[in-house]
Amino acid sequence: MLLWREKIPDNWLPRVLNNLPAVLVDHAHLERKAATTALSLEKYRDLHSRVEELNAIAIEELQHFQLVLNILKQRAIPFSQAYPSLWISGMMRAVRPGQRHQVIDHLVCCSLIEGRSCEKFQILAGALQTVDIDLAKFYASLVESEGNHYATYLLMAREIDEAETARRLDFFLDLDVQLIRQPNPHPMLH
Ligand SMILES: [Fe+2]
Ligand SMILES: [Fe+2]
Repeated sequence: MLLWREKIPDNWLPRVLNNLPAVLVDHAHLERKAATTALSLEKYRDLHSRVEELNAIAIEELQHFQLVLNILKQRAIPFSQAYPSLWISGMMRAVRPGQRHQVIDHLVCCSLIEGRSCEKFQILAGALQTVDIDLAKFYASLVESEGNHYATYLLMAREIDEAETARRLDFFLDLDVQLIRQPNPHPMLH
């Protein structure tokens, strides 16, 4: 897994554990957005040959979305409004326009979002062991899939342009350092 340049802030985990219903709603939206993101990557000329792999990711994310919706239903938590993530919107704002620049940046950004999800789901799976075993198992079951998405997106970018991907990965890892320290007004995954 990737070498992050900043660790997740210490207050993230207790805040998430103390606000699980809100975080589960946020998680449902995160999976919904991950599905639409995989489909939106299909617009790039450089990814037309990868359309089936991207469809497979979109289907997987949609299945994750449904799994979170099932958990919401079991727990009588209504599926409600999403709050914007300052970290995700900050990363996405740095995606440069222009066909080749945009596809590389978009893939690197998506890869890091998947990577942070993978890391956070792993932390949650461990922390929930003694609190909520069903939810702990659920988060553990997502780790491998999100890790694969992280690797797939990064590999897709490298196959388009290895050197540019390395430069932009360096840039986005530095941006992550700044953005992850920002206080989040709502309890959420990112
Ligand atoms: Fe997912
Ligand atoms: Fe994913």
